[in-house]
Amino acid sequence: MNDVELGALAADIALEAGARAKQRRSEGVALAATKSSLADIVTEADREVEQLIRDRLHAERPDDGFFGEESGAEAGTSGLTWVVDPIDGTVNYAYGIGAYSVSIAVVQGEPDPQRWQGIAGAVNAPVLGELFTAVRGEGAWLSGSRLSVGEATAAGALLGTGFGYDPATHEGDLAMVRRVMTMARDVRRMGSAAIDLSYVAAGRLDGYFERGLKPWDFAAGALLVQEAGGAVTGLELASPRPMLIAGGRAVHDRLRGIIEAAGRAD
Ligand code: IPD
Ligand code: CA
Repeated sequence: MNDVELGALAADIALEAGARAKQRRSEGVALAATKSSLADIVTEADREVEQLIRDRLHAERPDDGFFGEESGAEAGTSGLTWVVDPIDGTVNYAYGIGAYSVSIAVVQGEPDPQRWQGIAGAVNAPVLGELFTAVRGEGAWLSGSRLSVGEATAAGALLGTGFGYDPATHEGDLAMVRRVMTMARDVRRMGSAAIDLSYVAAGRLDGYFERGLKPWDFAAGALLVQEAGGAVTGLELASPRPMLIAGGRAVHDRLRGIIEAAGRAD
């Protein structure tokens, strides 16, 4: 399969997986477990949807690796790995808020975000009825329209962010929000990193930053932003929770400058 065909497969599976997640939500939500903290939940649907994605990939791409939020990693032999978040925004999902998504990316190289190269990605938000897709070198797309990142206006940048599940990190994250407010017109915390990044690609957010994301949260979304003409970088601050920064070039650079200065001051 070429890159475009891999992208079509990611999109097709994300559509099927999103439909299943939405159907299961309409039938009610069963919590399966808590993970890193009481706030970090996994539902039965997270597991079922990841299994659906894994089974389809296994049938169609048996030599590729797999790296999923719920069922872990399996090495492949082709040099390609599928990086999957079956439901990104699980807390929204559990509460009946429609801002959740299925995120599927296929990457080349070592299954480490510092080293891999994104080939294609799809973020499907089934309740919002939107499927965002990107293929390297071919752009980022939503419903037949090519996406491009926005740039801040004189009114400042509309920024997205998120917070991890560990209450011990909230104070530091909120202090960072206070610092970036100097360049913001406002801040959104929507609850799905994959949707946040898709919105940066679509120019609905000017920039996004979050600490402590996992590779499956941003694998597809980062490619969307890059293919929409934006920049995505990682930053190691003093704590072991790396920071992801995304946006149009000017917003990204300004955001990164503020965050780096704050990191030095901490
Ligand atoms: C979470 C969401 C949320 C972000 C958290 C992620 P999950 O993923 O992307 O927006 O703030 O850091 O863990 O747990 O819903 O898959
Ligand atoms: Ca996630």
